[in-house]
Amino acid sequence: MYSIPESFESKRLLIRAPIWNDGIKVNEAVKESKEELRPWMPWAKNIPTVEESEVSIRRSRLQFLERSDLRLLLFLKGTDELVGSSGLLRIDWQARKFEIGYWVRTSYANQGYITEEVEAISSFAINELQANRIEIRCDDRNERSARVAERLGISLEGTTLRNEKCDVDGSLRNTMIFSKFEEWNFSKTVDSTNG
Ligand SMILES: CC(C)(COP(=O)(O)OP(=O)(O)OC[C@H]1O[C@@H](n2cnc3c(N)ncnc32)[C@H](O)[C@@H]1OP(=O)(O)O)[C@@H](O)C(=O)NCCC(=O)NCCS
Repeated sequence: MYSIPESFESKRLLIRAPIWNDGIKVNEAVKESKEELRPWMPWAKNIPTVEESEVSIRRSRLQFLERSDLRLLLFLKGTDELVGSSGLLRIDWQARKFEIGYWVRTSYANQGYITEEVEAISSFAINELQANRIEIRCDDRNERSARVAERLGISLEGTTLRNEKCDVDGSLRNTMIFSKFEEWNFSKTVDSTNG
């Protein structure tokens, strides 16, 4: 098992694995962004306490170590200012498929930070983790999220999945899947180890 780097940089951001005590910063950012998060993120329906955010961070830390989910926090370079949260989730290590999830802190929205970090995380997945497939899944009404994928040439793949899951209010929603894949890997024998 080779080691997975715990941090890397994009032009303006330090992108790193969560560590103990990040919960307080995440909690501040979630509270500030609750109106924008609630329509799309089921976990934001009830705003977490600082302790709950810390529990979530510690769980993410452990998942990072066991490589089941690789959550990554976004900081403005040279500061401890948390811009948002992202990561490589729902990983299939045999097929080397990764889903990228993200949210931005409201005071840093509309400045291109998420597009920048998704591009950096995609390159990280391809170059460091030998990704064969990267997915972004989103509600078909979530135009801002779809625009992130489209800006990076991560294209809408096939048909939208109808009634695929429930939204935060319990109503059925449709899901769009955007993907990027490495053609050169299709004939390759896959290595099923997680690193
Ligand atoms: C989805 C979400 C992360 C998108 O955030 P965002 O701020 O629109 O995305 P970016 O940080 O990439 O910023 C892009 C915008 O900044 C603008 N921008 C400004 N300066 C820029 C720069 N230097 N570089 C690039 N874009 C810049 C772009 O034009 C774009 O605006 P537009 O879409 O109106 O054209 C955000 O809406 C969010 O957190 N939503 C709630 C959670 C969520 O839905 N997550 C996804 C679940 S699938």
